[in-house]
Amino acid sequence: MAPVTVAAGVALLAACTGAEPPTPPHIDPHDDALVALGEQVYAQHCAVCHGVALEGQPDWRRRLPSGRLPAPPHDETGHTWHHPDWELYAMVRDGVTPLAPPDYETDMPAYEDILDDREIRAVLAYIKAQWPEHILEMQEAVNRRQPEPPEGVAGSSR
Ligand code: HEC
Repeated sequence: MAPVTVAAGVALLAACTGAEPPTPPHIDPHDDALVALGEQVYAQHCAVCHGVALEGQPDWRRRLPSGRLPAPPHDETGHTWHHPDWELYAMVRDGVTPLAPPDYETDMPAYEDILDDREIRAVLAYIKAQWPEHILEMQEAVNRRQPEPPEGVAGSSR
């Protein structure tokens, strides 16, 4: 049994390292240079909605008069840390609509044409760097459970 599993694993790995575009690697909150860049990106692009201290919009659980959701906090009081890295990356790059039901309306922009790959990783690294250790550990468990987008989901690889 074991050799078969290993062979399948090697084949999978080969498939991933071939012509296939890479899925976003782990977003590292301990990479100081990345976090420093992310702090600037956050202040410039995200703080206006998600709050300068990542606190989210006031009363963020209640829908706005438009029927849309306010921007949630990115600190440990929100639910950003419930998502695996690939999904956070996808939400910033593509916005939340690809992962939402059809016709879903949201104020969260897509940053595909505004931020490059490193800036998206950086802003997420900065957000993660603000989390206390136990929240980081819980999000790491989410990453282990769901390291990649499920088949057919508009996710991280392109
Ligand atoms: C114009 C306001 C606005 C700006 C600017 C904005 N966001 Fe958002 N963001 C939102 C809203 C509103 C939501 C909730 C989306 C929904 O569920 O409809 C959201 C949701 C998210 C989520 C999902 C959180 C979760 O727990 O599901 C992430 C991640 C996120 N934003 C990251 C960012 C980052 C990073 C930036 C800056 C690069 C940014 N946002 C800029 C409004 C904004």
